[in-house]
Amino acid sequence: MRKNIVAGNWKMNKNLQEGVALASELKDKVQNPNCDVIICTPFIHLASVAELLKGSKVYVGAEDCSEHDSGAFTGEVSASMVRSTGAEYCIIGHSERRQYHKEGYEMLRTKVLKALENGLKPIFCVGEVKEEREQGIQNKVVEAQIKESLFNLTPEQFSQVVVAYEPVWAIGTGLTATPDQAEEIHAFIRSLIAGKYGKEMAENTSILYGGSCKPSNAKELFAKADIDGGLIGGAALKADDFCGIINAF
Ligand code: PGA
Repeated sequence: MRKNIVAGNWKMNKNLQEGVALASELKDKVQNPNCDVIICTPFIHLASVAELLKGSKVYVGAEDCSEHDSGAFTGEVSASMVRSTGAEYCIIGHSERRQYHKEGYEMLRTKVLKALENGLKPIFCVGEVKEEREQGIQNKVVEAQIKESLFNLTPEQFSQVVVAYEPVWAIGTGLTATPDQAEEIHAFIRSLIAGKYGKEMAENTSILYGGSCKPSNAKELFAKADIDGGLIGGAALKADDFCGIINAF
């Protein structure tokens, strides 16, 4: 059966000392979670945080990785470098990467493969922008994102992927999709996976919701049949808020 997961996405927040302090607080506070707990941190935190959290209930991931293996790509960090820190997950295709760094279907397809080749589990983000939701084409948008960047994978590879549905209009805005709105699209995503890889794979794939998820709305969202947890931005930066979301399970 699929796992319930609460994953934090720290984005570009916290210097190394602040990040280590937060990880250390989480290590103490997350003792017996009813779900898997992951924190995805900036690259510079990974080695220290992964070392600190070794053997704890909190897994570590990166927020991105390069589409290249190695070489003259100044400023880039490869999936193999990420893995060498002890990190086990990697967010790929976050809307902020799609928007500000023009990451498209093809690049993301390559990044997913690089992550998998190097033993990282991708947390693959999809979601529509406000105008697309207003036009009612959110399913089409999400379907293309998934088909174009994930459906080249073998079943074995796909089984390592976590999907995160994050409506862009809900990210960092305080506007959350209603549990019904989120459930509708989560069920649609699961049906796409069933169509491509079969019902069993679909049932075993964790699909997370992201976008202004907080302790006060997590329970209602996570109660939905096809919502298997959350990808948390703002509320992942404070241990008590993040734990409040974890405790929604
Ligand atoms: P938010 O971000 O929780 O701050 O809305 C979620 C995300 O971008 O992953």
